[in-house]
Amino acid sequence: MRVCVIGTGYVGLVTGVCLAHIGHQVVCVDNNEEKVKLMQSGQSPIYEPGLSELMTEAIREEKISFTTDLEAGVQHGEILFIAVGTPPLPTGESDTRYVEAVARGIGEHLTDGYKVIVNKSTVPIGSGDWVRMIVLDGVAERQKTLVPSGGGTATEIAVDFDVVSNPEFLREGSAIFDTFNPDRIVLGSNGDRAIAMMKDLYAPIVSRQFSEDKSGPTVPVVVTDLNSAEMVKYASNAFLATKISFINEVANICDRVGADVTQVAQGIGLDSRIGSRFLQAGIGWGGSCFPKDVLALIHTASDYGYTTDLLNATVSVNKRQRMIALEKLQQMLKILKGKTVGLLGLTFKPDTDDMRDAPALDLIDNLHRLGTKVKAYDPLISQSGMRHGLSNVIVETDPELLADGCDALVLVTDWKQFKGLDYAKMAKSMQNPVMIDGRNFLDRAALQAAGFQYVGVGR
Ligand code: UDX
Repeated sequence: MRVCVIGTGYVGLVTGVCLAHIGHQVVCVDNNEEKVKLMQSGQSPIYEPGLSELMTEAIREEKISFTTDLEAGVQHGEILFIAVGTPPLPTGESDTRYVEAVARGIGEHLTDGYKVIVNKSTVPIGSGDWVRMIVLDGVAERQKTLVPSGGGTATEIAVDFDVVSNPEFLREGSAIFDTFNPDRIVLGSNGDRAIAMMKDLYAPIVSRQFSEDKSGPTVPVVVTDLNSAEMVKYASNAFLATKISFINEVANICDRVGADVTQVAQGIGLDSRIGSRFLQAGIGWGGSCFPKDVLALIHTASDYGYTTDLLNATVSVNKRQRMIALEKLQQMLKILKGKTVGLLGLTFKPDTDDMRDAPALDLIDNLHRLGTKVKAYDPLISQSGMRHGLSNVIVETDPELLADGCDALVLVTDWKQFKGLDYAKMAKSMQNPVMIDGRNFLDRAALQAAGFQYVGVGR
């Protein structure tokens, strides 16, 4: 099928490249010329495992192209994805101005023939109908410009389209895997024709042609109305964030009564009604989705006069959890002023270079406030030279050098390679080696044998 994806951020680019890989003809549109040039040359502007390989292959096979020309993209696509950002405003609401601009632009360029306009961006509930209205505004704008040379009124522009809400559930760091191995596909629309086209689009994924387990059962497709599809996205992320805040609260109680939250998580996770995933206690959740989506849902509820007691607690538990590493450092080192703390990992989770709302940023601010010197090593950030929000942090290029002269280390991000470091060598280069394992990720006995005083979260 012919697909146009507008916005080549994280969601847009992954969607475009994956749709090209399963055989569709994809045009990706972005208004950032430099980015488009970069992508035309086969380079991905974001780090995501496997993405640049699939992108290079799709370019070589002429399944994907990149342009700044929205009109060309709209004319090409039978299915038009809106995948631009909806960053949070200071109030917690989503900033929908980019979605609005794209919807208007689509309206200004819509041609004859039926099209499906898909909201892939996470948009406030009710945006499906709003997008439809904005597209029609765009059509009306163009109509005004059509004045027949001989005077009179121009023929009415005829457009035919439906809007679909198709939320994404991709995790950063495993976005390609998640696209080909989804738990479900959610399609919200008022139009049967649009749903049928979307089912055709995803047929190779639904039939598991590209899944790891090709013989597995077909992927469930959940068809809903527009508002419910939008709510599925918010409710999923809010539930997962709540699940993590829950286990973090349990961890804090474990710390006090002398239980081990990793054993507790195993014990409760085997109850199939609970499930074992997202029960890893630590220094809290961050990233570009959970914080933004939970706040947006709280905001929507309050617009309707409803107070979200549970979601407010989800957020406040997470805020407090971000102080846990600091509290544990104070317990171990007492005075932090003048001490040096080394952070293992900076990104909000492993396999991404994303620092958005990363717990590390709060920890760094608090350590600086208390007069502590901060050093850090992160497999991606150290190499990329990205220093956003990291002023006054010494970023080392070698994890084992990081320990040199530190009074304590804090494991902030559970990068796989941190399991295999030479901790005995690192301990020797420290005064009184302390390891705060903010993700309960390292082997306690091995760390102790290497000479560290090991402190986990809730164990
Ligand atoms: C999330 C959702 O999982 C995804 O479906 C949605 O589309 C976007 O938001 P992502 O932000 O990439 O994906 O990260 P995820 O792997 O879900 O982790 C979010 C945060 O929770 C991270 O900071 C992670 O470290 C933390 N986390 C996760 C925990 O603290 N404990 C866990 O058990 C799981």
